[in-house]
Amino acid sequence: MKEVISMLLPSYSEARKRTKSNSIKEFYEMNPLFSKIGNGRKYYIKTYGCQMNEHDTENIKAILDDLGFVECNDYLNADLVLLNTCSIRENAHNKAFGMLGRLKHVKQLNKSLIVGLCGCMAQEEVVVEEIMKKYKWVDFVFGTHNIHRLPYILNDLLVSGKQKIEVYSKEGNIVEGMPVKRENKYKAYVNIMYGCDKFCTYCIVPYTRGKQRSRCKDDIINEIIDLLENGYQEVTLLGQNVNAYGKDFSFSYNLENLLEDVAKTGIPRIRFMTSHPWDFTDGMINVIKKYDNIMPSIHLPVQSGSSKILKLMGRRYTKEDYLILFNKLKCIPNVSISTDIIVGFPSETDDDFNETLNLVDYCKFDNAFTFIFSPRVGTPAAKLKDITSLEEKERRLHILNEKVNTYFLENNKKMIGKKLKVLVDGVSDKENMLYGYTETNKLINFIGNLNLIGKIVEVEVTDAKTWSLDGKIV
Ligand code: SAH
Ligand code: SF4
Ligand code: F3S
Repeated sequence: MKEVISMLLPSYSEARKRTKSNSIKEFYEMNPLFSKIGNGRKYYIKTYGCQMNEHDTENIKAILDDLGFVECNDYLNADLVLLNTCSIRENAHNKAFGMLGRLKHVKQLNKSLIVGLCGCMAQEEVVVEEIMKKYKWVDFVFGTHNIHRLPYILNDLLVSGKQKIEVYSKEGNIVEGMPVKRENKYKAYVNIMYGCDKFCTYCIVPYTRGKQRSRCKDDIINEIIDLLENGYQEVTLLGQNVNAYGKDFSFSYNLENLLEDVAKTGIPRIRFMTSHPWDFTDGMINVIKKYDNIMPSIHLPVQSGSSKILKLMGRRYTKEDYLILFNKLKCIPNVSISTDIIVGFPSETDDDFNETLNLVDYCKFDNAFTFIFSPRVGTPAAKLKDITSLEEKERRLHILNEKVNTYFLENNKKMIGKKLKVLVDGVSDKENMLYGYTETNKLINFIGNLNLIGKIVEVEVTDAKTWSLDGKIV
């Protein structure tokens, strides 16, 4: 059994605090003394969750490389396995614990294997309690606020051989200058903000990611110019709620201004996500219309078509507000709009659910991510009385999925015969085919030469399926 050497445990009461203080900017520094601690060891990281987590993994990999570790793509060959976890729904949570179960057996055979857990689940009190009680063999845990501390955490662990848990539950700082090992050579994630202050009643993110902190314009623009100089074609500006960008500044600079400044860098493609309907302004819509390099593809989660449920969710808009915004966005030429929908929120009746179906019939979304409500410990919605059976929730999800799928196909069919600009991503699973994404973020497969990868080409749509298009190079 492992003794715990140092512990800094998550606290929900701290995590939900929001003060008026400005966020503090820190700079990542690597202590050169640590530069060889990973020598001779291979690492494997498994990432669960959203683009934010995927991007954190890109930072973590670069830090591990700097420490002398070498990446491998099979956890059975690794000397260090790290799970970068997600708390958004119970199944993400279960997947990570399932993987820990497998790693327990691997560790029984290979005692020197180092196992770590980070990401959003590390910020949850209940998870860390369980790790300390039932998973004492997990070597280290760190949270979303202290990725930059990884060299110190690993050094402490390797020197002492004792379990190390370090999770900050604070509003959070902004750490600049972290190294990054990008997965893709042409498309990059760029964080523009961290955290979230919306506190939708079902959502764990404000607790796991802290207060909203917007990155300085200059840091963002410099990162994008650097990407451009290195041949990148596309950036996705990331945040839990990008439309609230800049609301935490003491001066006036918002997403409208930032989008315009990013557009002026000349990077060929700009995407941004996720947008919360509450903060979408006419100014932002005008900037999207004005610049050809801002992609006309908007992810606008609605969550429910019932204003009663939206109120209980703390979303701060009604069905009518959403539809007004939706119609404004539809005026952007060739725009595609995608969404997220939760079914089975506590007290959702058949009538409420039908309102969601009606909204889907009206909006005919280009894409939709649909979920059954999952109660998350510590959130207000987890305490609401919920009498709907799981069976009924599954039934609603099934009906909803059937409906959204018909619109994906209907929208895709309208593209047949059109010539679209496509950023070529790579070789498709289908033999001899390349794949890429259109400006409206639709997946398209076509025959082409490998030297087109990373380039923007024109492709004519020849066939449409529910989740993808087929085409031929023009
Ligand atoms: N910041 C984004 C969403 C991040 S989470 C936004 O506000 O739009 C991604 C999606 O997961 C959410 O849009 C929501 O549909 C879903 N989700 C979040 N918490 C959930 C929960 N407790 N149960 C089920 N789905 C949830
Ligand atoms: Fe969660 Fe709402 Fe924040 Fe999105 S806006 S991350 S759903 S609290
Ligand atoms: Fe999951 Fe955390 Fe992202 S909870 S969705 S990894 S912000």
